Amino acid sequence: MRKKIVAGNWKMNKVLDEAVALTSELVNMAKDEVQNDAKIILCPPAIYLTTIKKYIEDAPNFSLAAQNCSDKVSGAFTGEISAQMLQSIGVEYVLIGHSERRQYFNESNAVLAEKVNTALANGVSPIFCCGESLQQRQNEDYVGFVKNQLTESLFHLSEEQLLSVVIAYEPIWAIGTGLTASALQAQEMHAALREHIASKYGADVAQEISILYGGSVTAASAAELFASPDIDGGLVGGASLKSREFTNIVKAW
Ligand code: PGA
Repeated sequence: MRKKIVAGNWKMNKVLDEAVALTSELVNMAKDEVQNDAKIILCPPAIYLTTIKKYIEDAPNFSLAAQNCSDKVSGAFTGEISAQMLQSIGVEYVLIGHSERRQYFNESNAVLAEKVNTALANGVSPIFCCGESLQQRQNEDYVGFVKNQLTESLFHLSEEQLLSVVIAYEPIWAIGTGLTASALQAQEMHAALREHIASKYGADVAQEISILYGGSVTAASAAELFASPDIDGGLVGGASLKSREFTNIVKAW
């Protein structure tokens, strides 16, 4: 059985008090209301990870992810945070290759492959983000484009390593735009990516990898998306900043 996951990517939002308040609300609502076995992963700004960790200690269905890590192991890289540092404070996951990092920080598939390697070497599971732009969806082989993101950043991994990776398909045209991909559009891509993984690693491995959908997920759209056979949950941006909305997304199964 694949893991059901809802991850909340807070991006560069919330000051400390707000981050703590949001976490407390989420933990309380989940305790009172969530009956499924979904894993809830909070991705706060890195500066709050240690604090937020204390607030989820007694909530076994909650985990933490960083939003990024360096591709380098350690050394003179001012301002960077290594995967080993994340591991040392008990962070279990790290977002790698979010489209905003690809776009604004020029992160290439090759650099992302290095980030995946250093995360895995330190026991931190990558949540590997992929997805096409609107122009690519209209003009090109957009499925091939996204498959290639997996090929170039993940397909050097061993089977065992790949099994520690979560994939998040996030069409760029749906991120922060209010334009959710339809459940059919998302399912088409998720099935194609699972098939692509199967072609390299075999069907059994492909069946075990959780593939999340991201891009304007709301409580209203989550149920239909999560009911699709190859969609194992969501990576949620804007709606993860509101405790009521995010909890309703977690309850969508
Ligand atoms: P959104 O962001 O839900 O605000 O579209 C998703 C993401 O960027 O992970």
